[in-house]
Amino acid sequence: MLKTSTISILPTFSKTTVIVVGVTSDDSGLTISSSQLSTEQLQSLELELLGVSAKPEQVKLLPFEGLGAVALVGLGSGENPDLRAVSGSIARAVRSFENVVIDLDLKSGEEVLEVIEGFSLSTYQYTEYQAATKSGIKTTSLCVVTGLAIDQAQLTRISILAQSVHDTRDLVNQPPNHLYPASFVASVEAGVKGHGIEVTVWDEKSLESEGFGGIAAVGKGSTRPPRMVKLDYHPKTAKKHLALVGKGITFDSGGLSLKPAESMVGMKYDMTGAASVYQAVVAIAKLGLPIRATAWLCLAENLPSGSATRPNDIIKIRNGKTVEVLNTDAEGRLVLADGLSAASETHPDLIVDVATLTGAATIALGHRYAGLMGDPEAIAKVDTAAKTVGELVWPMPLPNELRTLLDSPIADIANVKIGNRAGGMLIGGLFLKEFIGPKSASDKTPISWAHLDIAGPANNDSAAYGHTPKGATGAIVRTLVQLAEQVSAE
Ligand code: BES
Ligand code: MN
Ligand code: ZN
Repeated sequence: MLKTSTISILPTFSKTTVIVVGVTSDDSGLTISSSQLSTEQLQSLELELLGVSAKPEQVKLLPFEGLGAVALVGLGSGENPDLRAVSGSIARAVRSFENVVIDLDLKSGEEVLEVIEGFSLSTYQYTEYQAATKSGIKTTSLCVVTGLAIDQAQLTRISILAQSVHDTRDLVNQPPNHLYPASFVASVEAGVKGHGIEVTVWDEKSLESEGFGGIAAVGKGSTRPPRMVKLDYHPKTAKKHLALVGKGITFDSGGLSLKPAESMVGMKYDMTGAASVYQAVVAIAKLGLPIRATAWLCLAENLPSGSATRPNDIIKIRNGKTVEVLNTDAEGRLVLADGLSAASETHPDLIVDVATLTGAATIALGHRYAGLMGDPEAIAKVDTAAKTVGELVWPMPLPNELRTLLDSPIADIANVKIGNRAGGMLIGGLFLKEFIGPKSASDKTPISWAHLDIAGPANNDSAAYGHTPKGATGAIVRTLVQLAEQVSAE
C-alpha cells in the first residue's frame, strides 16, 4: 500500500529517496522548473549532453549528492501537461526507490491531487504467477512538495479509487482457468465484506427458473455454470439510484461460432465490464456517497460443447423478448439483455452498461477510447464524468435504420446480421437498447441509459504509458464513481 502525503518544505532525505523535478523547453532551450532543489549542482548540469529532454512524460534519472537520484521529468512547454499521465510515468521510472518526493511547482490543489492520483494508479503490478524475485516496485511512499493545503479526506479518496482500479486489474489479469463464474462470485463475496453492500446471487438453476434466458444460454456450453450477481449499496441518504450492468464473460471462445486461434487470445478480458461495475460500487460504498448504486454482474463462460447454444436457437430474455441466436460469438449482448431487463425492473434513474462488446469498437476508435452510446442526457452525463477524471470516451450514434438488420422472421430480434460488417459497434448498442424498460408503470418513456463499449481500452497490449500498465487497465472505473458523485449531487 502506497503512503501518500504533502509537505511544504523538502524533507530530509537519504540514498533511498529520489526527488523529481520538471524540465520544460522553449526557443532558448531546456529549463528546470522552479523547485526547492534548485541548488548550484542542479543548475550546472549539462542537460542536453546528459540526454535530458522536455518530451512529455520522459523521465531521466541522474546521480545527485546525498540522494538516491534526481529524476528530471519532461513537461513539454509547461502549458497544461496531463499531470496524471506525467505522474504515472514518473512512478514507473522511479519504482526502484523506496521514497519518492515530487517537487514540480504545482499551481493548484487540483494539480497536486492529479499528481498523487496518477502516481497511485501507476503503482501497480500483477505478480500472482511470477517468482517473488521478479517483482519490481520498491516505492512505499510518495510525498508531494506544495504550499497548498490538502485534506486527508482527499488523499483517502484517491487511495480508495486507486485500490478499486488495482483490484479491477487483478481480476481481469487472472487467467481463465482460475477465474470462472463461481470463482468470480467468491471473489466478489470476499471483496464487498464490511462495506454495507447487499449481495444476491443467481445460480444456473435460478437463472433458468427466473427467466434469465440469455445468461443461461451463453453459459450452458461450459462445465462451469453461469451466475448473475446483484450488488446493492443503498444508504439512507440516497435520493437517486444508479444501476450499472457489466458483461462478465470469463472466457469467450466464441462458442460453436468458434473464434480463430489468434482472436481467442486475450478473451479472458471479456469479463472487464463486470469487474469494473463491481469495483465501482465498492468504491462508491467506501466513499459513502449519498446515492443508491446497484451493479448487475452477468457472468458466464462461452465455450463450445454438446450442450452449447447453437446458431438458430431461439432463447427468451428476462423481459420476455425472444432472440434468434445466429452467431454464438455475439454473446455479450445476450447476457447484458438479461442484466438490463433486471436492472430496469428496479426503475433506477440511470442505467449504464459496460462491456467489451465488439471488435468493431477498436476498428472505429482504437485502443484508448471507449465508445459511448445511449440517450443524449445519459451520454452527456457520462461524457462529463469521464472528462472530469481524465478518461477517454467518444460519443457514437445509434442510427435507427441499422435496427432493421436485426429483424428475425421467427423471433422478436436476432443477435447479429450475418455477413454484415458495417457499424458493428452501433448494432451492438441498438440490440441492447431493446432491453431498457420504461421509467415506471405510468410513464412508458424508457429509463435513461448509456452503453460503454470498452473493447479497446479494457486491455493494453502495448507497452505501459502514463498510469496505464500493460495488460488490464481498469479504465472507466473512475468515470463510474465520478458519475455516481455527479448524479448524487443533482
Ligand atoms: N468479446 C468479443 C468482442 C471483442 C473482440 C472484444 C475483440 C475485444 C477484442 C465479443 O463477444 C465478440 O465476439 N463480438 C463479435 C460480434 C460479432 C459476432 C457480431 C465481434 O466483434 O466479432
Ligand atoms: Mn464473442
Ligand atoms: Zn465476448
